[in-house]
Amino acid sequence: MASNGKRLCVIGASGKLGRYMVRLALERGYEVVGVCREKSVPKLAEFAGRITVHPGRTNDPAVIARAVRGCDAVLTVLVPFGVDGYASGTAQAVLDHARPGARLVFSCGWHISRDGRDVYPWHFRAMAAVVGRLAKLLRVIDVGDQVEACRRVFASDTAWTVVRGSDLEEGESQGLPVWSHHVGDPVLASNRTRRVDYARFMVEAVEDDALVRQAPAIVGRLTPSALAHAGT
Ligand SMILES: NC(=O)c1ccc[n+]([C@@H]2O[C@H](COP(=O)([O-])OP(=O)(O)OC[C@H]3O[C@@H](n4cnc5c(N)ncnc54)[C@H](OP(=O)(O)O)[C@@H]3O)[C@@H](O)[C@H]2O)c1
Repeated sequence: MASNGKRLCVIGASGKLGRYMVRLALERGYEVVGVCREKSVPKLAEFAGRITVHPGRTNDPAVIARAVRGCDAVLTVLVPFGVDGYASGTAQAVLDHARPGARLVFSCGWHISRDGRDVYPWHFRAMAAVVGRLAKLLRVIDVGDQVEACRRVFASDTAWTVVRGSDLEEGESQGLPVWSHHVGDPVLASNRTRRVDYARFMVEAVEDDALVRQAPAIVGRLTPSALAHAGT
């Protein structure tokens, strides 16, 4: 694939979403840089020789500063794991070190609300409350830290996009997901997106100026709700 002359960094490159994004970015001709924890570098073996990897914790400002240097775009997986401010630390490092004007695209879940105008189904709220509390008790997930990470992104004057993912599943691509400004829009009701298509949305957002300073909530384009309501 010919180079498109642009450099793109994937923060959290070794995860499932991260690896899809690396693959798609390479297909689109980006020079790709990745950041992941040292122990996860082997998960990027399939890209050996084709990407530059910066091993380290993604909330380490020194690691991020090195990785994003000269990048036109930074795609960041906001991790809800850990209870030591990992997601907010990661977001802060990207906001502080990406070059001015770079396109910054962040991933998170529907539970993030930019303006408080999202309307959540009761079962979504119940599940979020139970899982959130249990996970925090067990010290594995801190959803609140992803909220803090996004609060900092929303407040920044960078060229950000926060892509709010529905429940995810594996499977063949169905094409670019459809999106809405707010959860509660009937188009999103199916609450299901293929992970590969989430990655596609993240990568394509880089070139879509209409998504700058937007927080699209996405859903698979072939889900029943998208088929019934897209474009209405
Ligand atoms: N799963 C869903 O149904 C769902 C729904 C909506 C939105 N999302 C969003 O989609 C994004 C990707 O989520 P995913 O579920 O598909 O997972 P994923 O892509 O596999 O990503 C998980 C990430 O978390 C890192 N990680 C795991 N344990 C960690 C720890 N203890 N400390 C630090 N980092 C750790 C992984 O790094 P290593 O490779 O180093 O382990 C990897 O980068 C997230 O932003 C998530 O909020 C997911």
